[in-house]
Amino acid sequence: MDEQNGRIVGANYHQEDQDHENKLRPRWMHEYIGQEGAKEKLGIFIEAAKMRKEALDHVLLHGPPGLGKTTMAHIIANEMGVNIRVTSGPAIERPSDLASILTNLSQDDVLFIDEIHRINRTVEEILYPAMEDYALDIIVGKGPSARSLRIDLEHFTLIGATTRTGLLTSPLRDRFGVLLNLELYTDADLTQIIKRSAGILQMEIDHEGAVEIARRSRGTPRIANRLLKRVRDYAMVRGEGYIDEEVARLGLDLLEIDPLGLDSLDRRILHAIIRQFHGGPVGIDTICAAVGEERVTIEDMYEPYLLQIGFLGRTARGRMATKEAYTHLGYAYEE
Ligand SMILES: Nc1ncnc2c1ncn2[C@@H]1O[C@H](COP(=O)(O)OP(=O)(O)OP(=O)(O)O)[C@@H](O)[C@H]1O
Ligand SMILES: [Mg+2]
Repeated sequence: MDEQNGRIVGANYHQEDQDHENKLRPRWMHEYIGQEGAKEKLGIFIEAAKMRKEALDHVLLHGPPGLGKTTMAHIIANEMGVNIRVTSGPAIERPSDLASILTNLSQDDVLFIDEIHRINRTVEEILYPAMEDYALDIIVGKGPSARSLRIDLEHFTLIGATTRTGLLTSPLRDRFGVLLNLELYTDADLTQIIKRSAGILQMEIDHEGAVEIARRSRGTPRIANRLLKRVRDYAMVRGEGYIDEEVARLGLDLLEIDPLGLDSLDRRILHAIIRQFHGGPVGIDTICAAVGEERVTIEDMYEPYLLQIGFLGRTARGRMATKEAYTHLGYAYEE
């Protein structure tokens, strides 16, 4: 079974997210909450590029789903004052598709390629000279009369987004001047994001209500916004329309969202480590086999959050369940 589909605390994009994501998406750097390190670096690069009146260097955004990669790409274009053209790795089927996108870019434009790790090899090869020399090498004609033609492109900025930098080839990765890692958000950041979203959606929420939702959002703004919407429904039907701590807690409990945002697979992972492997250390592949899930799923969507809340420890010999994990799941912990 695909655990990711329909999972309320899943970070993957759901169709139902669409209507509010557009409204809630920050458009400028100052509206983008958290990720201070990435924002500071980008702020400097953007300012310098504007001073030089040049296109920004190519940027690779890396991080788990729902952390704000697409949002950041749009912000970069806005801050640079340029147009953005949006596409994705799997959508570019043939080299000629990419060639036509590239030749249609204007000076300094941003080309955003989402899921860039899924781009195919022949298309990728077009990108190398485009990124490095702002040029396209195309073959015209067939057979003995075929010749290579170089077409100059406008200087543009490629922004690539990926959940898996490991799947990028190194020639592609090396052509990005700026590599930015987005991290899971802290509860304090998420609380701010929830308050901002509530303001835009004209919902009344107090600080404690926002904190309660933040704690269950797995460090992920997309989940925070989704939970906020669900709690609003609950507040309208069962409460006075106002979200405080109690309404948030009752609403989220009713949806069976764990107080820390854990779902059934998180629990299965922890149960397996504790029961089958005496708390670890145990290798990632062994854990995957025990819970019957793919390694990428566990590594990308589960492990980061379990590490962030201190339920998992990573050692050279494998993963370990911590005392906090034992306590949360109701096991006795022996030192
Ligand atoms: N720093 C932030 N401040 C406020 N809201 C944010 C922030 N980052 C993300 N969001 C909200 O979370 C939603 C999801 O973000 P976004 O679509 O940019 O994630 P993503 O990293 O591109 O995800 P995916 O990997 O699925 O493409 C946005 O619509 C926005 O409302
Ligand atoms: Mg995205």
